[in-house]
Amino acid sequence: MTPAATLSGRKILLIVGGGIAAYKALELVRLLKKAGAGVMSVLTPAGAEFVTPMSLAALTGHPVRQALFMPEDETAMGHIELSRWADLVVVAPATAGLIAKAANGLADDLASTTLLATDKKVLLAPAMNVRMWLHPAVQANVERLKGFDGFHGVAVVGPDEGEMACGEFGPGRMAEPAAILSAIEGLLAGPDGRPLAGRTAVVTAGPTFEPIDPVRGLTNRSSGKQGYAIAEALAELGARVTLVSGPVALAAPVGVERVWVETAKEMQAAVQAALPADIAVMSAAVADWRVDGVASGKIKKAPGGPPSVALIENPDILAGVSAPGKLRPKLVIGFAAETTDLEANARAKLSRKGCDWIVGNDVSDDVFGSEGNAVTLFTRGGDVESWPRQPKSGVARKLAMRIADHFKA
Ligand code: CTP
Repeated sequence: MTPAATLSGRKILLIVGGGIAAYKALELVRLLKKAGAGVMSVLTPAGAEFVTPMSLAALTGHPVRQALFMPEDETAMGHIELSRWADLVVVAPATAGLIAKAANGLADDLASTTLLATDKKVLLAPAMNVRMWLHPAVQANVERLKGFDGFHGVAVVGPDEGEMACGEFGPGRMAEPAAILSAIEGLLAGPDGRPLAGRTAVVTAGPTFEPIDPVRGLTNRSSGKQGYAIAEALAELGARVTLVSGPVALAAPVGVERVWVETAKEMQAAVQAALPADIAVMSAAVADWRVDGVASGKIKKAPGGPPSVALIENPDILAGVSAPGKLRPKLVIGFAAETTDLEANARAKLSRKGCDWIVGNDVSDDVFGSEGNAVTLFTRGGDVESWPRQPKSGVARKLAMRIADHFKA
């Protein structure tokens, strides 16, 4: 696979330590972004002596995290969440100090805390003076990190041998950005890393909005969070995802192509345009009706009382995608948002709409706009799986893994 295929949509957390090699971290960010990866960065105080937060922010497109206890950072994405957000944590340059902290479980600043809190693999690109690198203490720390059992693992790229900024010669120069990029690609291209690579998916999310006149409309309650999380999880597993989204206030997930729509008819057209696809996940809350004869000007209040609005039924996008034909995706998944009789209603929808799986969710309690969701998956083959209440990202990952297993089988 090319770097672009392996890295597209992957998430890298880059920790930039202090050292003259920090300037090369900027080139690394540029290469990662060019390959389609999303990059967030942590800059240590020593790192900030060599590169500015401004250059890192401009290149990554995200604010740079510099300290552990910054209320504005923690409310955007807490440092623990940041350590989990990534598919891979890269430390470049990895100084003797950072390596020592990681090897000994020291957590007294943002970089070391992140390294301890992450559940992902860590790639170190050491850079230091040759005597420091060859010091038994540093070597022992690197070996110690590599040897931790049950840990997600540490990989090391470099250091290279050559003339150093300090004038000495030997191993200690940070690996070149292209070599770090290849190492990242190698770590992310593991056999199980991208089970949906080469697959395409279309996901609908959010509500639709059906105008009554230029200022009013009919809509459904939906934050889009569950659908966006599904698009993100499918992309993480390697699928090329088109996300057809109604009006929501969410950023497009990294590596996902978003198509904005407003009405059900626009959503249907955008879904059709995204076919053929291997996978269709229709999680949007489509308005069942639209207004027959949308007023071209604002309807004014009149003495005769409120106007009557005639409604006509919207096309059923899920049923259309599920209908047999050349463009039918191999796996079509619908959602059933129910307030009563989840199982019976979900099963009825499964056969009425002709899809392969349906994800039933009980919306009688706080689901709209909240972070958590509890769902039950019903398949046409008769399988039933209930997944306990968990963050919408957890439901999304579970569904994406289930989809990957389906294609593997
Ligand atoms: N759906 C769709 N197009 C529509 C209506 C619904 O694609 N016009 C999809 C939804 O995205 C979801 C599934 O169909 O995947 C079920 O949606 P839901 O609103 O629960 O079902 P309805 O068909 O609207 O049935 P009812 O309102 O009677 O519950």
